[in-house]
Amino acid sequence: MDYELLGKQLRELLSGERNHLANAANFAAFMYQQIPDVSWAGFYYADGGGELVLGPFQGRPACTRLPKGRGVCGAAFTRGETLVVDDVNAFPDHIICDAAARSELVVPLPPNAPYGVFDIDSARLARFDAEARDGIERLVNTFIHSVAPPPWQA
Ligand code: SME
Repeated sequence: MDYELLGKQLRELLSGERNHLANAANFAAFMYQQIPDVSWAGFYYADGGGELVLGPFQGRPACTRLPKGRGVCGAAFTRGETLVVDDVNAFPDHIICDAAARSELVVPLPPNAPYGVFDIDSARLARFDAEARDGIERLVNTFIHSVAPPPWQA
């Protein structure tokens, strides 16, 4: 996978626009279309309480609210670091939103003190290897730098 080329295309797509919602919507569509074997790609945002709330995404309809302290998204958010799960059925706390998902990668936005997460799922076991993790983290980083934090953030 040529993540360098994807990075160039992404910068083209997001440049000239700073609106968080618009760039998040295009970023989810870009990731879903351009990265092979992806069943779901999208955002969850902290709501100021104990939950993460669904944001722009591509794929099947998903859970609207996830507890911050649970699931793969909650763990990545709480720790402020990327989580890769090769087999979601072996992750004790996984929250099933889409029964087709087998592996998952969640990147906090931004790392350390996140306001949300970007979640990407695959129907293939162990879809997200070290190369994918590094490439996707770099693309998420490009997204983060293309927008201000979401305006609805407390
Ligand atoms: N599996 C995630 C929930 C979100 S969906 O997969 C879209 C989790 O365990 O946090």
